[in-house]
Amino acid sequence: MTEQRKATLRLGENTEPIEFPILSGSMGPDTIDIRTLYAKSGLFTYDPGFLSTASTKSNITFIDGDKGILLYRGYPIEQLATRCDFMEVCHLLLTGELPTDNQKQHFVNTIKSHTMLHEQLVRFYTGFRRDAHPMAVMVGVVGALSAFYHEAMDISDALHREQSAFRLIAKLPTIAAMAYKYNIGQPFIYPRNDLSYAANFLYMMFATPAEKYEPNPVIVRALDRILILHADHEQNASTSTVRLAGSSGANPFACISAGIACLWGPAHGGANEACLNMLEQIGDVSRINEYIKRAKDKTDGFRLMGFGHRVYKNFDPRAKLMRETCHEVLNEMGLHNNRLFKLALELERIALEDEYFVAKKLYPNVDFYSGIVQRALGIPTSMFTAIFAMARTVGWVAQWNEMIADPDQKIGRPRQLYTGTGHRDVPTDKINN
Ligand code: SDX
Repeated sequence: MTEQRKATLRLGENTEPIEFPILSGSMGPDTIDIRTLYAKSGLFTYDPGFLSTASTKSNITFIDGDKGILLYRGYPIEQLATRCDFMEVCHLLLTGELPTDNQKQHFVNTIKSHTMLHEQLVRFYTGFRRDAHPMAVMVGVVGALSAFYHEAMDISDALHREQSAFRLIAKLPTIAAMAYKYNIGQPFIYPRNDLSYAANFLYMMFATPAEKYEPNPVIVRALDRILILHADHEQNASTSTVRLAGSSGANPFACISAGIACLWGPAHGGANEACLNMLEQIGDVSRINEYIKRAKDKTDGFRLMGFGHRVYKNFDPRAKLMRETCHEVLNEMGLHNNRLFKLALELERIALEDEYFVAKKLYPNVDFYSGIVQRALGIPTSMFTAIFAMARTVGWVAQWNEMIADPDQKIGRPRQLYTGTGHRDVPTDKINN
């Protein structure tokens, strides 16, 4: 990060100009360092939703929304999704480098040594209703991990942070699959460490004690790619939640639980589930224009799920890769005439030709096709966001770890523009009974 130019703020004709350093990173927009603004001017900035605010510096993920570029530690997502597997991407996000063969073997074995849950945690599930949403279960169970690792939760200790990262990456698939098994009343399936990360998740989801189950390699590869595409995404809402929770010194399990809670929202990670439900609701190509009309109607709360993005004002590169994966999986599964996929393709075509969507630069995002792919993989809709959380855990812990290790980091404590009632006194004749 280099300091070069300065930004000058003049608050009125006869006032002294106030100068602020402009900081440059390695790529992307420069930033005005306004940390001294309040001390020098008595003013706050006002930026709800952080449209123009860099909350931190980071070396992990870079996005250029205008060009549709997404890099993990400098590598384009298109190359990672086609040339690497999820474990290699996890190593990359956590350490900054793709692993050598030996490093990969060691990393994979380390993750595999943490895939099981403490048996006391297994009993935690029986406290939930059978129809509890998997995300509700994951918020609870991941947060409860805090109660099991007291010996390794000193966040100032890099080894403890690394241990917690491994535990979270390893246990999220087990926790998510168990949430699904609990929903459908089937027995929990323990992890099999002879399987790859994605294959083990599918095994824990769909195996039963009654029959032999071997995951389909096509489905395994597709799921592994879905995990790569969802692994990290700069300072999105759930990552910012994890960072803010972590800035208070909260333990990593509590922070990731907070991230899962935030991701659940339909404006964020919950959009894949909402998008599939929307496609089911539209039902037929003949009704697409009716829903496009509703999406443009400001008096109607309906939005086209899977469309639009705060950063991408061009194609989300993940959406393109997800569409390709969707095509491949449907063809492999003999589902190329899949009704929902054909509906999604037509909805995308119509929306991208509509001047409202063109003017507002609303393109399909990562969630638009991921629901269709996951449905084709046999994954129930209720599990779509749980899988997003499973994939994003590595990004969350990498960003959390970067924040804790950052000498600049302080507890996050935004201010406000107060618009409430001014000072007033409680009536003296009021009796405090
Ligand atoms: C993810 O941040 C990330 O990186 C997130 C994510 C990640 O990997 O972590 O990429 C994952 O969350 C993807 C986004 C999934 N959400 C959805 O698909 C839900 C539908 N999309 C929207 O709700 C919306 O587009 C957001 C939330 C994604 C972005 O909202 P912004 O940036 O705050 O934009 P906005 O709501 O201010 O919308 C700008 C304009 C508005 O119209 P005007 O007020 O200017 O007239 O575009 C309109 C909006 O009404 N608009 C839409 C729309 N999205 C925006 N209109 C119809 N349908 C939509 N989907």
